[in-house]
Amino acid sequence: MPEPIKPNVIGASPEGTQDQESAARAVREMFTSIAPRYDLLNHVLSFNVDRVWWRRAARTFRHVLVCPNTRVLDLCCGTGDMTFALGRGAGKNPLYIVGADFSHSMLQRANEKSGEWRGASAATWVEADALRLPFPGENFDLVTSAFGFRNLADYDAGLREIVRVLRAGGECGILDFGEPSGMAGALYRVYFKQVLPRVGTLISGVRGPYAYLPASVERFPEPAEMLKRMRSAGFSEATWTPYTFGIAGLYRGRK
Ligand SMILES: C[S@@+](CC[C@H](N)C(=O)[O-])C[C@H]1O[C@@H](n2cnc3c(N)ncnc32)[C@H](O)[C@@H]1O
Repeated sequence: MPEPIKPNVIGASPEGTQDQESAARAVREMFTSIAPRYDLLNHVLSFNVDRVWWRRAARTFRHVLVCPNTRVLDLCCGTGDMTFALGRGAGKNPLYIVGADFSHSMLQRANEKSGEWRGASAATWVEADALRLPFPGENFDLVTSAFGFRNLADYDAGLREIVRVLRAGGECGILDFGEPSGMAGALYRVYFKQVLPRVGTLISGVRGPYAYLPASVERFPEPAEMLKRMRSAGFSEATWTPYTFGIAGLYRGRK
């Protein structure tokens, strides 16, 4: 089968969807269906490496997090683990931090977890579509998204919306899966495409989302292409740092 031409990809397109609207609806329904078991599945399927990635991404932005009056938006926050990692990264500095997601069930779980949170920064949870954010322009010092951006129905529109809500000089961190190369990549692909969908389906009791995961990573633009799109969207600087052999990676941009 010929390789898909990734540069032309507009956004996520779960099986059976025809346009951006149906793609976004399918993504929201998928995450809503796995929300009750999302955290457990995440930790089991990633062997807890997900925690290391969130922490590492948050550490990268420590210089922003420790500034007084910092305003942070964590997009596609799901059950809030990246949001909490950012709060932890700020230490005693109380952040204004918003976690936004379009799945109500995921946000409900995030809100429950807030009850166990003892940090200085209390998050505000907002139900919102990342492509139509209910915030004025130039509003945040930092916008992050962990494992959510890849699911947007239009990547360029998502990047433009991030640029819009960032103040001048503000930073962006997009943490998402990648496709490692070499021997490690070959082994990982067996796990990611064969084992993970089966275990995910078994634990969640839902067919679909865990087959969609490897397909969505395969479809997502390569780092060079993604960096090009970030610059076109208005980021003056854009870099990518691979995590764990490139299984994941952090895109950084500055407006
Ligand atoms: C894989 S989860 C990641 C959750 C969390 N950031 C984490 O690291 O565990 C992806 C999340 O993105 C959300 N999402 C996908 N597309 C979205 C959109 N257009 N607007 C808002 N949230 C979206 C989903 O509802 C889901 O909660």
